[in-house]
Amino acid sequence: MTGRALLNQAAALGLSFCAEALADLIDQRDDYIQRVDAKGQRYLNALARLPGTEPSSLDLDADWVRIGEAADLAASQRAALLAVLEDYRPWRKGPFRLFGIDLDSEWVSFLKWNRVKDRIASLADRRVLDIGSSCGYYLFRMAAAKPALALGLEPYLTYYFQYRLLQHYAKVPGLFCLPVKFEELPPMPGYFDTVFSMGVLYHRRSPVDTLVGMRKVLRRGGELVLETLIIDGEGDLALCPAERYAKMNNVYFLPTVPCLSNWLRRAGFDHIRCLDVTRTTGAEQRRTGWVQTESLSDFLHPSDPTRTVEGYPAPLRAIFLAQVG
Ligand SMILES: C[S@@+](CC[C@H](N)C(=O)[O-])C[C@H]1O[C@@H](n2cnc3c(N)ncnc32)[C@H](O)[C@@H]1O
Repeated sequence: MTGRALLNQAAALGLSFCAEALADLIDQRDDYIQRVDAKGQRYLNALARLPGTEPSSLDLDADWVRIGEAADLAASQRAALLAVLEDYRPWRKGPFRLFGIDLDSEWVSFLKWNRVKDRIASLADRRVLDIGSSCGYYLFRMAAAKPALALGLEPYLTYYFQYRLLQHYAKVPGLFCLPVKFEELPPMPGYFDTVFSMGVLYHRRSPVDTLVGMRKVLRRGGELVLETLIIDGEGDLALCPAERYAKMNNVYFLPTVPCLSNWLRRAGFDHIRCLDVTRTTGAEQRRTGWVQTESLSDFLHPSDPTRTVEGYPAPLRAIFLAQVG
């Protein structure tokens, strides 16, 4: 569901205190998408062309999130849906099985989810924020635990519209996504029980300030689930790439595990635990038919896969849990 649907439920969700500021933000962004952004307009038109059908089943608690069955669509409807799915490429996060169509995304996202799902506080009845929610793969997985609210933030319109398309059919209650950046949210002090920040912190120029922002939206005792790129090592150090890292020009800091613990502590978190450190391999990130761009193998050094093409250590990711005391 979209921002308007969220506002309609603002009172029930305890959001009245910031509903006006949220409404302004949502209106501004919707207006931009509808009147200014050519891609946004194209995506909106494509949404309107989606075949009308109801999924006969839904499975959010499976590695392949399943929405509907092949038999729910006539052949012409399947062709119409496929055309929109292709227009909405690249499908980076997933996988999904949508009315029998296998959306095999670039990332095998259940590998990350399976690393966290049994280690975090139960999401049942909680208010959950997923910063950088992409197409909503993790939001759908979270929804299986029946949170009171699962709110995604995804400013990149291709991924935001992928979420819109999936939720258009899935209609999962309590699940919302806004096409905005975390920094654009109005103040929501202590509102959330759990905040997920996965794959986002290395894109931030001021990671400690970003962590402070996350701490502020969490209630006392609330939990941060943080996943980010790191480097090996015991020192209190971070790598700051000169320009690009794995061909990305928006990667700023890759800390060691001790350095990331320091950032969290200095941002005001306690009970800080590193749950997992995993090297990213071609089993987790690879090109598929739904991704027309480069993938991991193109980002690694051709003669030394332990290095990126720039010569930096190859992608290594850590998952941390931290609490607000
Ligand atoms: C590498 S992807 C990670 C997606 C997903 N969370 C995961 O772990 O697979 C980072 C996502 O964060 C979004 N993003 C980047 N900066 C953001 C910000 N300031 N606020 C919210 N989302 C952001 C990007 O558009 C992108 O979809």
